[in-house]
Amino acid sequence: MKNLLPFITAVTLINGVSAESAQKGSDIITLPKPKLESKISVEEALQGRRSERSYKNEPLSLSEVSQLLWAAYGVTRKMPGFRGGLKTAPSAGATYPLELYLVAGNVTDLPKGIYRYVPGQHALAKVFAGDKRAELCAAAHGQSMVRNAPALIVYTAIYERATGRYGTRGKDRYVCMDLGHSAQNVYLQAYTLGIGTCAVGAFDDNALKKALPIAKNEIPLYIMPLGKI
Ligand SMILES: Cc1cc2nc3c(=O)[nH]c(=O)nc-3n(C[C@H](O)[C@H](O)[C@H](O)COP(=O)(O)O)c2cc1C
Repeated sequence: MKNLLPFITAVTLINGVSAESAQKGSDIITLPKPKLESKISVEEALQGRRSERSYKNEPLSLSEVSQLLWAAYGVTRKMPGFRGGLKTAPSAGATYPLELYLVAGNVTDLPKGIYRYVPGQHALAKVFAGDKRAELCAAAHGQSMVRNAPALIVYTAIYERATGRYGTRGKDRYVCMDLGHSAQNVYLQAYTLGIGTCAVGAFDDNALKKALPIAKNEIPLYIMPLGKI
């Protein structure tokens, strides 16, 4: 464990605000605790999961988005220095290069906006107020599920976290492997909740980057629309 500590990278800056200081601000929403039980087995979820592109015109609840974010990148063993601790998804060298944003358009008890997921606190930090779904849809070449879904998870990566330790191997391999692990968790958890999702990798990189309140060194990788099916 000790040998991992020198590789913990610098704090991410979002709109000039560090992740740590953002957590102290007032726009922090603590999420409901995730459930650790389900009536649907992992085998059923593996069998039933599909990429779903149309959703009911119904809100998602805060508990549902909480559960999905936890499944994606939630802390399962607290440990200082590892961006909150070891997580539901494996990560090369526990470098955790991913950042997750919840884009809320129709989530009960959550104003429309963009929120950064803070795994260590299982909380959301508000980074933008307003509905960005239409802009994100345009960036995703007009894929309508991005505009119509009540919520989206947008993944970005800070490649330096992986390259700082692994050089080009971190960039060429590990970041996207980490992404795949986490995104599959979203697919499986969504299935257990009667929620559909679809990994969206087709988008205009610059347009998506412009639409998101993210740091310069954050690279958007996936949009995952979420909605009842
Ligand atoms: C890297 C990646 C990028 C993808 N990008 C898109 C996309 O932009 N739009 C889309 O509708 N589906 C996208 N998909 C979903 C695939 O089309 C889908 O996984 C595939 O058709 C198999 O269907 P299934 O997921 O239901 O098994 C993507 C999947 C992956 C793994």
